[in-house]
Amino acid sequence: MEKREVKERIAKLKTEINHHRYLYHVLDKPEISDSAWDSLKHELAELEGKFSEFITPDSPTQRVGGQPLPSFNKVGHKVPMLSLEDVFNAEEFEDWLARISKIAPQNKLSFFGELKIDGFAVSLVYQKGVLSTGSTRGDGRVGEDVTENLKTIEAIPLSLRQPQTSEIKSIGLDPAKVGKIVDLGELEVRGEVFMTKAAFEKINQEQKRMGLAEYANPRNTAAGSIRQLDPAVAAKRNLSFLAYDLVTDLGQTDHAQEHLVLGWLGFKTDKYAQELKDKKSVSDFWDKIKEKRNKLAWEIDGLVISVNKNKIYTQLGVAGKAPRGAVAFKFPGQESTTCVKDIIIQVGRTGVLTPVAALEPVDIGGATVTRATLHNEDEIKRLDVRAGDTVIVQRAGDVIPDVVKVLINLRPKNSRLFVFPKNCPVCGGEVKRSAGEAAYKCINKKCPARHREGLYHFVSKKGFNIVGLGSEIVDKLVDNGLVKNPADFFKLEPKNLLELEGFAEISANKLVESVKKSKKVSLARFIYALGIIHIGEETANLLAMYFGNLKGLMSAGEDELQKVPGIGDKAAQSIKIWFENKDNKRLIAELLSCQIIIQSPPKISKKLAGKTFVLTGTLESLSRDDAKEKIRLMGGDVSSSVSKETDYVVAGENPGSKLGKAQSLGVKIISEKEFLRMAE
Ligand code: IVH
Repeated sequence: MEKREVKERIAKLKTEINHHRYLYHVLDKPEISDSAWDSLKHELAELEGKFSEFITPDSPTQRVGGQPLPSFNKVGHKVPMLSLEDVFNAEEFEDWLARISKIAPQNKLSFFGELKIDGFAVSLVYQKGVLSTGSTRGDGRVGEDVTENLKTIEAIPLSLRQPQTSEIKSIGLDPAKVGKIVDLGELEVRGEVFMTKAAFEKINQEQKRMGLAEYANPRNTAAGSIRQLDPAVAAKRNLSFLAYDLVTDLGQTDHAQEHLVLGWLGFKTDKYAQELKDKKSVSDFWDKIKEKRNKLAWEIDGLVISVNKNKIYTQLGVAGKAPRGAVAFKFPGQESTTCVKDIIIQVGRTGVLTPVAALEPVDIGGATVTRATLHNEDEIKRLDVRAGDTVIVQRAGDVIPDVVKVLINLRPKNSRLFVFPKNCPVCGGEVKRSAGEAAYKCINKKCPARHREGLYHFVSKKGFNIVGLGSEIVDKLVDNGLVKNPADFFKLEPKNLLELEGFAEISANKLVESVKKSKKVSLARFIYALGIIHIGEETANLLAMYFGNLKGLMSAGEDELQKVPGIGDKAAQSIKIWFENKDNKRLIAELLSCQIIIQSPPKISKKLAGKTFVLTGTLESLSRDDAKEKIRLMGGDVSSSVSKETDYVVAGENPGSKLGKAQSLGVKIISEKEFLRMAE
């Protein structure tokens, strides 16, 4: 970029960041996610780092904090409510360590690690054991009095619990001193108000039902609820609270003790929080929590790592608005901003034309993303995305990244509008958009792109699962005429592969061995691999279970297919048409002649027959879907609500209202462990 362009880009970024800062921090109505916002700030900081002459005092990189709203009474914080410096990776964490080690060189540092909850920080002041003032952080020195709203949160005790003498003694504190402060003095606790993912989903379902706009995320919904002038609104929001900071000196010497005391005082604390002896333990803890992140009942955006010993923490002091003794060790953002280089069309196995954004490579959550799906023509129009645009890309789990939003203000003059093609870009054949469908389809069954995708599908993980046979190798095999149809994979010999670029004796033998191994395949995988339209993993399973063998499925009429639980008219028709097709019949015969062994599904155990289960809360060892499948496979039923007909309620972590209902109806409640034993 030329200097003039850098200057322009910086100016545009500043306006954009400031706009989103206002929406997020002042109005609690963000239009983009935190990580997307972080990503814009990152770009700005990087440019300012290279061209420091363009840094202005009003740049978002030069400021911290916000302002209290005028509509609440102001509350001064006796001890400022600080914020935390962010670190995003091991290197930055090490830099922080090196910095503080210089200031406190005489000490061997041990740490305390806890979840960084994506919520809203509040301070709670108790006078003589009773909650007197609850306030927001505000600008760190002066916050807003939101006591009445906070009182609606069940997890916040209205009066403190007096810790037991034995508890206090066990960590070497003076029970008389603690008792006196709790009973007669002033005690301040800080923590995070937040909304669980389940509560957030529920509230959004309700919004949807009433035809109202849905909320953007749990964090802002929680913050918005606390900033409501009417406490009745907050009361309806089902908010939660976790305490993480005991401000008052009760004689505690480290942060770990603070968490214990907070628990004894009657606060909910983070159960994952723990002392971490060294940086290796910090990194292991980070890995562990990152892994668990999606399974937690509430959203977290990283860890808070503090120097455990309070004395050293205080000695380290404050830099700007953040204490030096702690950092927010963030998890990689799941969203980022990047530029769309081009919009291209991919033709799928079923002929669907999918527009895809080719992106300037960007790291999202630890993976480099170069493409994002744009789904269909309507979605392109809805997003108004053009080649040249800066977009927000989201990556969630294993799914294909998505374009969430176009940052229109950053659009360059030479952006290019996308026109959906009238013909298949691969075979040139006709494309059609059926009434009521969003997708255009290439209707040429012999389209090479469709055929190739079908081969990828055949060998894929959920299909024949031929290890080592990715799309690139399939391409090579097809391009060199070695594979024309799926049966050809099983006819490959090492000598054929040796003709191809990139294969040597070992790799060729390995692949042929891998193909051989895959010849033993479950009926469900076999059906899935055929790539029959409307037959995915789930339906393939149902068909396998119902028919038990391929012959039964092949000879079934449409009527019988429709009888299979979970198979609809469209799927039944599609199966019938597929097996009647001459080429497909030939393919099946050819596959069977390659000594493929199709394994019938195991007989269903009827252990849970006639029993109805309801699941509530988060299960630790298996997902809800897995649990449901287990119950159904064993002949049981799963219901979403508790009634007199329910036999068992399986209660996981943070169970919902179903638990209370079960108790009141006298329905048996079992733990996950008991359930697993039952379903062994
Ligand atoms: S300790 C000096 N512990 O993160 C600030 N903060 O980025 C001490 N947060 O304003 C904060 N979970 O809203 C701390 N376990 C936790 C936290 C936590 C979330 C939030 C809090 C704070 C922000 C700082």
